Amino acid sequence: MGGRVLSVASECVPLVKTGGLADVVGALPSALARTGWEMRVLLPAYRALRAQASGWPVVWQEADLWGGPGRVVAGEVAGVPLLLLDAPHLYDREGGPYSGPTGEHPDNAVRFAALSWVAARIAREGLEGWKPDILHAHDWQAGLAPAYLAYHGNGGVKSVITVHNIAFQGWSPAHMLGVLRLPGHAFHPEALEYYGGLSSLKAALVTSDWITTVSPTYAAELMRPEFGMGLQGVIAARGPVVSGILNGVDTDLWNPEAEDPPFSRKAMAGKARARARLCEDFGLEVPGPLAIVVSRLTDQKGIDLLPAVIPDFVLGGGGLIVLGSGDPGLEAAVRNLAARFPGRVAVQIGYDEALSHRLFAGADAVLVPSRFEPCGLTQMYGLRYGTLPVVSLVGGLADTVIGASPAALSVGVATGITFHPVDALAFGRAMAQLLDLHRQPKLWAKLRANAMAQPVGWESSAGAYADLYERLTA
Ligand code: ADP
Ligand code: GLC
Repeated sequence: MGGRVLSVASECVPLVKTGGLADVVGALPSALARTGWEMRVLLPAYRALRAQASGWPVVWQEADLWGGPGRVVAGEVAGVPLLLLDAPHLYDREGGPYSGPTGEHPDNAVRFAALSWVAARIAREGLEGWKPDILHAHDWQAGLAPAYLAYHGNGGVKSVITVHNIAFQGWSPAHMLGVLRLPGHAFHPEALEYYGGLSSLKAALVTSDWITTVSPTYAAELMRPEFGMGLQGVIAARGPVVSGILNGVDTDLWNPEAEDPPFSRKAMAGKARARARLCEDFGLEVPGPLAIVVSRLTDQKGIDLLPAVIPDFVLGGGGLIVLGSGDPGLEAAVRNLAARFPGRVAVQIGYDEALSHRLFAGADAVLVPSRFEPCGLTQMYGLRYGTLPVVSLVGGLADTVIGASPAALSVGVATGITFHPVDALAFGRAMAQLLDLHRQPKLWAKLRANAMAQPVGWESSAGAYADLYERLTA
């Protein structure tokens, strides 16, 4: 059993990351290796990656990839087997994967169509000595890859699309159909057409052999108008080939026993020291629970609810550290909280991996009040570090945290605090419960121990992907 998978995506840890997509794409190859499935990741050679890849052998090329040459070089970084698509006219640019100093790249549709095109060709034709059985595409950026297989021949390869976030759909106007090498006969609502134009995510949803998303609850939510963002009907129509497979986290990277100071479920003194250090570094004095937020600051994440609930939480003895960046209005809102509550609330705007580890190690609770959350990773870091997750009951948050309801408390299985609906009233009650539970040391210790005993690694999910690949290739 086992086989080969070509994974195609726009982000991959440790090379390029704007969100959890990168963590998942980077973690899957080694998680799958144990199941007998060999995965290689095809990624654009963005400017920062070109130096890494210098000297790697060229394994594929095309003279005219939408206006310039494209070549694929093969190598490995941090145990991730990589295929980098080097096409300087598309990817050798200043800035992040999607935007430069003046905003989003205007040719993103073509940039990621090219990535998808090359993925489909490699899947169909194979490289010398390496032919995949499965093409696994992630999100809209890779969405045209399954469509190219469907419309230009699949060479016996099965395709899977994983939806990490339905909010990003890769829409282009109808006149792009030919430019993107898609067939005119497929331009109708049952296939490619989407609100008068094209969506590369919809293209994948209608052409892939299988659709997965990153939690069972999100798989069900995606078929409803409240969460499907226009694509609910398309997904519901393909219900029999839709499944949710929960993400895992890298338990070597996120390991309390490897933090400084180290701690574990059986020896929590290190966590107390980490907390004291954190408070000192941020100039905080917090008698009650110390909460953190480590997140993109966007609407999705419910950050706008913080100003409504944090004042009461602080009055009750709580404290908060926010690490994140994003929407300028939300950045201002959290900065304003820090200004109002010096010594209790601190904010660091920006992206800081090392600080995020210290925050999870030292804090008592992590807040994830998302309006929707396909999976979410930070609540799982929280579980692993005994930093109790306070989460809204949506998507993967609902699948990973057992809320401290009277029933869960009475049988001793709670691992965090959950609330619903996603509004300031319910979130405020959850924060009041956090204060209350923190005042009961025995119960608090029990919740922590439960949280830290939860399996959050990749073992079972890697098995679920392997089972899916087996079924598709049987
Ligand atoms: P999303 O992909 O929607 O942003 P996830 O929870 O799946 O949400 O993944 C977010 C990832 O990015 C996590 O690994 C989280 O720790 C990390 N992260 C987000 N913001 C920051 C930040 N400001 N500094 C460090 N890490 C961050
Ligand atoms: C997306 C989602 C997040 C998920 C991540 C990885 O960015 O917003 O919930 O954890 O993808 O699948």
